[in-house]
Amino acid sequence: MAKLAVIPGSFNPVTRGHLDVIVRATGLFERVQVVVVHNPEKQGLISIADRVSLLVESLAAEGIRVQRERPGESAEAAGADALAGADALAAGVDPGVVGVVSVAELSSGLLVEHCQRVNADVIVKGVRSQLDLAYEQPMALMNREMTGIETLFLLPDPAYAHISSTLVRQIAASEQSLDPYVPEPVARYLQQRRG
Ligand code: PNS
Repeated sequence: MAKLAVIPGSFNPVTRGHLDVIVRATGLFERVQVVVVHNPEKQGLISIADRVSLLVESLAAEGIRVQRERPGESAEAAGADALAGADALAAGVDPGVVGVVSVAELSSGLLVEHCQRVNADVIVKGVRSQLDLAYEQPMALMNREMTGIETLFLLPDPAYAHISSTLVRQIAASEQSLDPYVPEPVARYLQQRRG
């Protein structure tokens, strides 16, 4: 049975749709690790360090307990942290917590190599549309061919089907409200950067 699910993405920035998928995954897998990946094809706006911080803050605001992989810590140790958190949750020690995830960064190399390092059982990705599936399918097939690791696709709430980080970055350059599209810590961060 799948125990550790890795949810990769650029999270540039994390949106309400991303959070919806992460929360759903915490209800399906023993452990969830969200991996902020440096994607050279999607440069711009937010540094990888800020993306990680915003993700951690946004998850915490959703009632998700977050174990952040500390610099220099082994991926295995971060996985163990997530397991300890999940055990604590299962034991019911903290009723305010709805799920537990760890957050890691991947600045180079293949996602599947990271998955092998942390002994992930499955990759989870959100798909909003046929277009998303067309983009994800070759990567999922390639990742499975290389390592045997399966990718599972989750549908977010349809209320978020039109939200993408790309559109959020465009809106961020205007005076329009970002609140419907991104969690509060991200809206605040982007607002401050408007100057
Ligand atoms: O949020 P995104 O940008 O759609 O996520 C895509 C991402 C970062 C998950 C994907 O590009 C990725 O896995 N990149 C790491 C390099 C890699 O493993 N590429 C796939 C080779 S088949």
